[in-house]
Amino acid sequence: MDLTSTLPPMIDLSRKKDGTNDTETFAADVAEGLGTSPKSLPSRYFYDATGSRLFQEIMALPEYYLTRCEFEVLQGNRQEIARHFFAADSFFHLIDLGAGDALKTKILLRELALQQNAFDYVPVDISGDAMRQLSDSLQQEMPSVDVQAVVGEYFKALEWLQEHKPERKIVLFLGSNIGNFKNDESISFLKSIRSNLSPGDKLLMGVDLRKDPDTILSAYNDASGVTAAFNMNLLRRINTELGGDFDLAEFMHYPIYNPHEGVMRSFIVSKKAQDVHIQATGQTFHFDAWEAIHTENSHKYSLKQIEELGNTCGFRIETVFQDTECRFADVLFTVD
Ligand code: TRP
Repeated sequence: MDLTSTLPPMIDLSRKKDGTNDTETFAADVAEGLGTSPKSLPSRYFYDATGSRLFQEIMALPEYYLTRCEFEVLQGNRQEIARHFFAADSFFHLIDLGAGDALKTKILLRELALQQNAFDYVPVDISGDAMRQLSDSLQQEMPSVDVQAVVGEYFKALEWLQEHKPERKIVLFLGSNIGNFKNDESISFLKSIRSNLSPGDKLLMGVDLRKDPDTILSAYNDASGVTAAFNMNLLRRINTELGGDFDLAEFMHYPIYNPHEGVMRSFIVSKKAQDVHIQATGQTFHFDAWEAIHTENSHKYSLKQIEELGNTCGFRIETVFQDTECRFADVLFTVD
């Protein structure tokens, strides 16, 4: 069966793009991004070993409220969330998109295991290492939880959902990852998920809410420079993996928040006119003075926008869980 044909056309989930080990694809994506005006680099390449370590540091920064807020939301509402999951009183699969180390999901898993109801846990992540570690740690910490880890991209998760269409499912899409899609991509992705769910199934999605623009900007421009190092890590990777000769001192991290659009954008700006050669592609890329490379978008939403996005994609809001300062929400959607 050709599963790719069932997907809406906007996101091409069928291409193999493992940012961690596919050098050829990395080179092609870099050549495409730097060869186009305005320049860009795909954000999926942030997360090599160094990038993943830097992102762990970002999550612990005083300015980066997102992770702490979502912890608070899940911790404070775990019993109620579990009640919603169990409402139908029948076995379900809990599918965790981009599970990673699943630190946040474990809050829910502990609660679900405590209530001794029937479910299994299906973490999906592009990192095979992360999935092996997670399976091992769950075996230790919660031996009663049945784990079926899936290694692959979001596309793989959609495939899994389709294969289990008639069975009850609850999908987790935590961490505001939806915010990193372009608007049309987030709609396509949620519609793809929805097309593989049935009435009674649910989706718990993390979203970063609109707030004081300075709070948002600081989260992506911390005083200690960890986020700058994280963003610039893309250039370091090009140097080490593709034989690039970026002089990192001649580029700077530049984030900007647009409160009208609710979009936080991260850039790398060239401080002078310069040429950069990349061996792997055999090309030289020219940078004008102050020319920018766009690296990431993080959308911030109002609850009204999230409700509209859900409705557009065939979901209805069941409950909204928020932290005390209303900075972050985990929105529970249901399928009618
Ligand atoms: N994608 C995450 C986010 O939007 C990770 C992130 C944090 C990030 N800081 C960043 C991505 C700076 C690019 C640049 O929150």
